Amino acid sequence: MWQPNGCIFVGIVCSIALCAAAGFTHEGHRSFLRVHNKLRSDVAMGRYVAKGGVKKPPATNMKMLLWNSSLADSAQKYAETCPKEHSEIDNIGESLFWIGGEKLSEDYNQYAKMASDVWKEEFQKFDWSTNNLTATLFKSGVGHATQMVWADTDRIGCGAKLCGRKSPKIAVVCHYYPAGNTLSRLIYDEGKTCSSCPTGTTCNQHLGLCAPPGGFRRVVRG
Ligand SMILES: *[C@@H]1O[C@H](CO)[C@@H](O)[C@H](O)[C@H]1NC(C)=O
Ligand SMILES: *[C@@H]1O[C@H](CO)[C@@H](O)[C@H](O)[C@H]1NC(C)=O
Repeated sequence: MWQPNGCIFVGIVCSIALCAAAGFTHEGHRSFLRVHNKLRSDVAMGRYVAKGGVKKPPATNMKMLLWNSSLADSAQKYAETCPKEHSEIDNIGESLFWIGGEKLSEDYNQYAKMASDVWKEEFQKFDWSTNNLTATLFKSGVGHATQMVWADTDRIGCGAKLCGRKSPKIAVVCHYYPAGNTLSRLIYDEGKTCSSCPTGTTCNQHLGLCAPPGGFRRVVRG
C-alpha cells in the first residue's frame, strides 16, 4: 500500500518540476522565427501569393523578427493562466492558439511550427487584398497573419501550457513588439525590397529583411 502512494507522490513532484521548466526551448524559438521570417521574407521579396492568386508587392521596410526573452516571459506567464481570451496588455501584440486531442505532449516545441502555420494560413483561407488594415480586412479573419507580417514588429516571445484535465488542451501564446494590427495603418510599405530600412537596421539581401547588426546570426541560432 505504501509504494503506490510513494509513486503518486513522486509523480506529483515530477509534474511540478516540469511546470517550472515549462515553455519553449531554443528549438521552439527557432521554429517560431523560421516560419515567421520565411513568411516575412517571401512577402518582402515580392514572392508571396495570397488567396485567389493575389500576388503581394514587395516591402520596403519589413524588419527581421528576433526572439525576445522578456516577451517570452510575459507570454509564458499568460499561458500559465490557460487563457480563453486576450490579455489586453498595453502596447503588445498577442496571438493565441489552442490544440486539443489525445496525444498532447509537454514537449511544447512541436506546437511552435503548428501554431505559426495555422496563423500563416489565414492568408490562404481568407483575404489579403489590401495592405491597409481596414476593419473589413481585419474582420475577414486574418488578424494573426497580419501581425506575423506587420513590418514594424521586430521581436517576438512565446509560451505554452498544457491545460485542462477532462479535455486537455495546449495553449500557445505569442507576444509581439511593437504591436501590429493598428486599424487604418499599412501592414507594410510597398516598393523596392529593403529600400526604406528603419534606422538601426540594414538590408539582409538574402532574406530581403531589415535587420539589426548581427540579426541574421541571432535568427539562425535562435
Ligand atoms: C526585449 O525587449 C525589451 C524591450 O521591449 C528590451 O529592453 C530587451 O533588451 C529585449 N531583450 C532582448 C534579449 O532582445
Ligand atoms: C486606410 O483606409 C482608411 C479607410 O478607407 C483610410 O481612412 C486610411 O487613411 C487608410 N490608411 C492608409 C495608410 O492609407
